[in-house]
Amino acid sequence: METFSAPPYRIKMVEAIKQTTRKEREEYLRKAYNNLFLLPSEAVYIDLLTDSGTGAMSDAQWGALMQGDEAYAGSRSFYRLRDVVHKITGYHYFIPVHQGRGAEHVVLPLLAKRPGMYFISNMHFDTTRAHVELAGAHAIDCVIPECRDIHTYHPFKGNMDTAACEENILSKKPENIAGIIMTMTNNSAGGQPVSLENLRSVSALAKKYRIPLLIDGARYAENACFIKQREAACHSMAIPEIAREMFDHADIFLMSAKKDGLVNIGGFIAIREDEALFRAAQVRTVPYEGFPTYGGLAGRDMEALAVGLEEGLEEPFLVHRLDQVRYLCTSLRDAGIPVQYPAGGHAVFVDCKEICPHIPFDRFPGQAVCNEVYLEAGVRTVEVGSLLLGRDPETRENLQSPFEWMRLSIPRRTYTYAHLDIVARAVCSVYERRHALKGLVFEYESPVLRHFTARMNYE
Ligand SMILES: Cc1ncc(COP(=O)(O)O)c(C=O)c1O
Repeated sequence: METFSAPPYRIKMVEAIKQTTRKEREEYLRKAYNNLFLLPSEAVYIDLLTDSGTGAMSDAQWGALMQGDEAYAGSRSFYRLRDVVHKITGYHYFIPVHQGRGAEHVVLPLLAKRPGMYFISNMHFDTTRAHVELAGAHAIDCVIPECRDIHTYHPFKGNMDTAACEENILSKKPENIAGIIMTMTNNSAGGQPVSLENLRSVSALAKKYRIPLLIDGARYAENACFIKQREAACHSMAIPEIAREMFDHADIFLMSAKKDGLVNIGGFIAIREDEALFRAAQVRTVPYEGFPTYGGLAGRDMEALAVGLEEGLEEPFLVHRLDQVRYLCTSLRDAGIPVQYPAGGHAVFVDCKEICPHIPFDRFPGQAVCNEVYLEAGVRTVEVGSLLLGRDPETRENLQSPFEWMRLSIPRRTYTYAHLDIVARAVCSVYERRHALKGLVFEYESPVLRHFTARMNYE
């Protein structure tokens, strides 16, 4: 019998949420053009759209907010945050930014020095892919094939296929590879972790061919906890020790702090030792993010983040967090719902290709299932599949994603196991009437990151 840990915190403040009727939800969805991103949040009962910036801060973080130094330049809060990031990563250079994509926008064009270069990743997250392409480069994904077999256990489905990575380096020529990006955990593959052993091998490749290695580490602490739980050589290591070894293997850390930083907004760039890159990044930060000692963040945001980064590495918190995700995954799996197995770190990923084989990829089976789960119980989830992937930048054809997921992301320190029971029941009801679900077509589609603003109709 599987066991699940209780939260290592108690509730000090609450926020009301309200259930709506099915009729009200039908009206809300119609007005949102069948795109859950366009719903007002009061129309949502349990919001599993994302775990990004949606978690609860601790009393210590709320206390720290009051200590923010709002100086434009040289804020005390900047130095406090810089020191915490240095302690965690060992990296010498630090620049705050408003969120993860700000870090991508500042750094990736500096690495893509000529048009037509390549970034190789285990899997690019959607904003990362967008910034790679906006920088005139191409994004290549080389995740291990085991990741595509959702029913078979593999402890590190987020790993890079190192042979495929090296083949790509050689076929595209090392001098044309702008960077290798390890997304940890691998969000688009189901929040799946990367092992330390795999990271070591990728790092060896990066060194061999003199390519910068980046960690896209929005969920680096969850990844470190998985390493402790699943990698034999690391069971006795402390989580911060594992995280430090992860960073020891890379050169650049791009962080969306809205995840494992336990804050509602924030991000940063950390660079090990490349001073020229740091200087160039500071120059780009000024026009896009702000002066380099605030980078789009208020002093109080930096204070809350400094505390959140340390809390985010605490083992009891991480164990409970991973347990909540595993709890929902197990409930769905026991009911016969096809989910990425084992559970990832921040979300449960339901395979909608398997649920709705009658809906073609360019009619978005994931979106069809997400909308139905919303109608069923007011639970908001998100499609991570062909809708999110978008079109080929050259041919403008719809790209077919290897996965058509409904992602149920669990915000940190926010919902209880009872909420997750409601979610599981809603997904099971939709599963029972899966054959009746219909695909969607565009009424409006934006050229980049279309899923955020698309207006859609049922076929
Ligand atoms: C792996 C990964 N990288 C980058 C980002 C972008 O971060 P942000 O949303 O803070 O811009 C995200 C956001 O979800 C992510 O999951």
